[in-house]
Amino acid sequence: MQYQNSNIAETAELLVARFATLQKKADILRAVELKALYAQIPTLTLEERGSFGKEMNQLKQQLEKMVNTVQDQVEALPVIDVTAPFDVNASAPKLLPSQQGSEHPLMRELEVVLDIFYRMGFNAVESREIDDDYHMFEALNFPEGHPARDDYDTFTTIQTDSKGKPFIATAHTSTMQNRVLQKYKANLENDEPIAVVIPGRVFRNEDLDARHEHTFYQLEGVYVGKDVHAGNLIATLKTFLQEYYGKQLEVKTQPFYFPFTEPSFEFALSCPFCDKKGCNICSQSGWIELLGCGMIHPNVLRHAGIDPEIYTGFAWGGGIERLVMMKYGIEDVRHFESGKLDFLRQFS
Ligand code: DAH
Repeated sequence: MQYQNSNIAETAELLVARFATLQKKADILRAVELKALYAQIPTLTLEERGSFGKEMNQLKQQLEKMVNTVQDQVEALPVIDVTAPFDVNASAPKLLPSQQGSEHPLMRELEVVLDIFYRMGFNAVESREIDDDYHMFEALNFPEGHPARDDYDTFTTIQTDSKGKPFIATAHTSTMQNRVLQKYKANLENDEPIAVVIPGRVFRNEDLDARHEHTFYQLEGVYVGKDVHAGNLIATLKTFLQEYYGKQLEVKTQPFYFPFTEPSFEFALSCPFCDKKGCNICSQSGWIELLGCGMIHPNVLRHAGIDPEIYTGFAWGGGIERLVMMKYGIEDVRHFESGKLDFLRQFS
């Protein structure tokens, strides 16, 4: 593949060489060099953007093709079954041809969401589905017996951790805050912020209806640096949402309570469907309450060994289904986990 732009050409050459050495081939799609190229886009003139964007798409497609080719080869290898727990003489089970499968709409939209945050300079770290009491509560400033623990009623295991506490099916992606703060705190010494988004699957003991599921996805965000304030939080979320919905939106916050932020806010945006005129999607109010957010509580920073006298930061967390439902006018959250082909095929 030939690229006119010398930065893109150099990066392409570098990434192709790195690809050969990677164990997890798909990691190439998240290379920092790609993000750096995307980050250049806002600095270009309008004329330059067109050809630059086109070549960036070509580069992304080239890399995706390389990853897919390797994955297809892996799939084509003959399966060696060392356990054979079934009757080896029985005829093979009938599997659906893989061409009939399609990417789940949520996963596809998650890629769109992550791409926007990469362009805004964020890294992504995946959350985990089982965690311990420390990360679910303690590190987030919910001491033992804190009443707000009740808001996160979820499922627990019979097995216990070293402190005798059951493991927890994570009720929010905030369980990762302590880990990402620790992992990236060296950034702060180099005068760089910590900027991470954390997608993940979470679980709640819910009464199910069109707006509530027991299993859903959240996107957490964490940003820490010097002189970071609530204005940065609102600007970051507004910029993301306008990019995602491709239109100007209004946003508003109202005070709320979370133990891990101070102050805490509930964040709402003007309904992207009806532009505040009132419709079924926004229950005629013109506004959609989207997520929880706030300035990271000093105790949460301290738990991660970050000095709250020097650094401040913001965090947010919200459901990914909600974002996607509004984009496509999906009326019932339960469709996503239903496995209904009629629903899924509309997005393939
Ligand atoms: N974890 C909260 C929830 O699921 C949402 C949230 C609120 C996340 C504020 C944050 C935050 O990071 O700062 O209800």
